[in-house]
Amino acid sequence: MLTSLVAVSTLFFGAQALTPSNIMRRTDALTSLKYTGVGAQGTYMQVTNLLPGEFPSCTISPFCITSEKEVSGSLAPFDDEMTLAFRGPMTIENIAVYQPISNTSSATWSRVSNWAKGEEATNLVFMNNEGGNGSGEWSICAGNSQSYADDAWTGGAAAPTTSSSGWLPGGNEINIMTNQTCEAAECSGFSRGTANHGWADSKMFVFTFDMPSSSDASQLPAIWALNAQVVRSAQYGCNCRGEGANGGCGELDILEVISADTPDQAISEIYSFKGATGSGANTFARPTGASATYSVVFDVDSDQILINELTEWDYTQTAVTRSLVEGYLSSASTTVPFNDNLSRRSEILGAHRRRHHH
Ligand SMILES: *[C@@H]1O[C@H](CO)[C@@H](O)[C@H](O)[C@H]1NC(C)=O
Ligand SMILES: *[C@@H]1O[C@H](CO)[C@@H](O)[C@H](O)[C@H]1NC(C)=O
Ligand SMILES: *[C@@H]1O[C@H](CO)[C@@H](O)[C@H](O)[C@H]1NC(C)=O
Ligand SMILES: *[C@@H]1O[C@H](CO)[C@@H](O)[C@H](O)[C@H]1NC(C)=O
Repeated sequence: MLTSLVAVSTLFFGAQALTPSNIMRRTDALTSLKYTGVGAQGTYMQVTNLLPGEFPSCTISPFCITSEKEVSGSLAPFDDEMTLAFRGPMTIENIAVYQPISNTSSATWSRVSNWAKGEEATNLVFMNNEGGNGSGEWSICAGNSQSYADDAWTGGAAAPTTSSSGWLPGGNEINIMTNQTCEAAECSGFSRGTANHGWADSKMFVFTFDMPSSSDASQLPAIWALNAQVVRSAQYGCNCRGEGANGGCGELDILEVISADTPDQAISEIYSFKGATGSGANTFARPTGASATYSVVFDVDSDQILINELTEWDYTQTAVTRSLVEGYLSSASTTVPFNDNLSRRSEILGAHRRRHHH
């Protein structure tokens, strides 16, 4: 069905938006959430250096060196390179990333990265925060950098590898980057250890996964996107995320189970230097049984971010049309404006803190 949909969209190349036929609709859960008016002019504290210190104690203060970075424009700061992060318990079956071929309004978005369980990845590297084990680095002040994730997705490895089972055990985290290193081409902001580029400007991530129930109530799965600078310094340390009053360089919680009291519900939240908002009382359904497919579109042209649960996705397609992307953007969604003058909401910060504590 999808294959023919894409064929039809090709006929209308550059024409009006299509109505996609694969958006999941549920009566009892959110399946489509759109953030509008995302971009803003503002500043965040960019990490410019991270001093390692000397074992056994960090005596350097400050060791996290930052400098104010001003950004502006449509989708800012989510037009910067982003990474996608996952926390188990979860099985990941497929991941694909699509981007406009030349500029944000290109009629074709081509598949730039992809991976399927048990196969080699194309322009996609699995990382975790185990630097010092196999790859990357660890220091007393800065802690663990990124490392290549091992094939069990629990530890570090010396070289990029992929998982044959797609199983991410509860409490473990991985994130994806392109295969281009910061050594080969300079990355924005400070980077150390095993550091690669993310996906900049407009991008669409599509992924199929499940989040099985866990007998350990403390294991709450989540999927989120971060400014790639965050993981290149320290996801859980010195970074530009700016939890708290200063705001930051961009985080989108896509699907996050936040409480053992509501283990079948997942929320979304968005954070930048201009504040925070989210799905509020509306929740996505945690896919505990059958796997689910989600897409997340970061669209510079329309200044919107769209999270959709899909009924299916044809991962063999090497391109999609801009009109299909516009079809998703113009389909019925729960719409949350990311206004210019939001202040951080305490209940959102509460959820945020829970997630970021191990
Ligand atoms: C964007 O790319 C398309 C080709 O995909 C081209 O026709 C168009 O002129 C480009 N627009 C800009 C502003 O560069
Ligand atoms: C990155 O992946 C692409 C596609 O698989 C490949 O052609 C390229 O050689 C890789 N580059 C590096 C630096 O590994
Ligand atoms: C390396 O991994 C082991 C086992 O997971 C862990 O105990 C150790 O703390 C790690 N070392 C560093 C430097 O992170
Ligand atoms: C933003 O909010 C503050 C405090 O509520 C208010 O004083 C200010 O006028 C608002 N600015 C705009 C542009 O609405």
